[in-house]
Amino acid sequence: MTEAGQVAGVAPGVVTQAPGDAPDSAIVRCENLVQIYGMAGQQVTALRGVDLTVTAGETVALLGPSGAGKSTLLWLLAGLLRPTAGLVEVCGRRLTDIKPGAATNMRLREVGIVMQNPGRNLLAYETALGNVLFAQAPTRRTRSVKHRRSLALLEAVGLGPVAGRPAGRLSGGEQQRLAVAIALANGPALLLADEPTSQLDSASAAVVTGLLQAANEDLGTTIIVVTHDQQVGQAFGRTVTIRDGKVGAVGHAGEDYLVVARDGSVQLPPELLDVLPPGTLARAVRLGDGVELRRADVERG
Ligand SMILES: Nc1ncnc2c1ncn2[C@@H]1O[C@H](COP(=O)(O)OP(=O)(O)O)[C@@H](O)[C@H]1O
Ligand SMILES: [Mg+2]
Repeated sequence: MTEAGQVAGVAPGVVTQAPGDAPDSAIVRCENLVQIYGMAGQQVTALRGVDLTVTAGETVALLGPSGAGKSTLLWLLAGLLRPTAGLVEVCGRRLTDIKPGAATNMRLREVGIVMQNPGRNLLAYETALGNVLFAQAPTRRTRSVKHRRSLALLEAVGLGPVAGRPAGRLSGGEQQRLAVAIALANGPALLLADEPTSQLDSASAAVVTGLLQAANEDLGTTIIVVTHDQQVGQAFGRTVTIRDGKVGAVGHAGEDYLVVARDGSVQLPPELLDVLPPGTLARAVRLGDGVELRRADVERG
């Protein structure tokens, strides 16, 4: 992969955010996170220095093209993968330091996960109801409370009528909705979901998005969702666009902002790359409230 669009400098209207300057209420903190996969002598750099802080109670949509590193970031936050370099803190734990057992415990009790492949989130031979019950095994709830909660969650995702069907026999979309119910079963402090609406029609996608918002509003669950769906993205408080293994942009209240990385680099939005294609020499011109980038080869005067 290339470092396309990496241009040093600051454009007007940029919101600056000091890396490592995390508020105390941060539930997720990533600093200079790097992930390199090694495959048969060939290395793939999936993340190349991600800085991201998420405050408890926030809802964040991770956007970005396929292969940008979104799933990798989610796996690192879930403690399913150890980063090649950098720091990850989730729910007050430094995931680079804890034992695998502690990461498992965190996933059982505090962090709900919906993986990209719906089938990976469930026990195929167990019924839909049995899956949501099983997820609550680590809790101290009584059997009848677990049962009631499971049925309520299945109803909420529109799976009430198929509660008794083995999960492996549900359609891809039904499995996806079941995965969301399982992930919310223990009222997690943090929910990580990787494209949870990719196989749903817009009505079902709206139901799932509504359920995530309700978990956020009623229980204070922090939500981080990878999505291609504009509607899902807009329903969330903040969007973070990952491009080429870096945080390329942050969106809030309908405005998109560039992010100045710790090395001073800024990713230009792809739609501006026809003006400043990768490899272009540019001049950074200081303005009163920012910096303007000008192509050096077409400058006049
Ligand atoms: N297990 C793996 N082994 C090797 N390369 C991987 C692995 N998982 C992901 N990658 C590569 O890492 C990059 C980022 O992948 P991923 O995090 O899945 O991106 P996204 O979810 O944004 O599509 C891609 O180039 C992908 O091919
Ligand atoms: Mg992915």
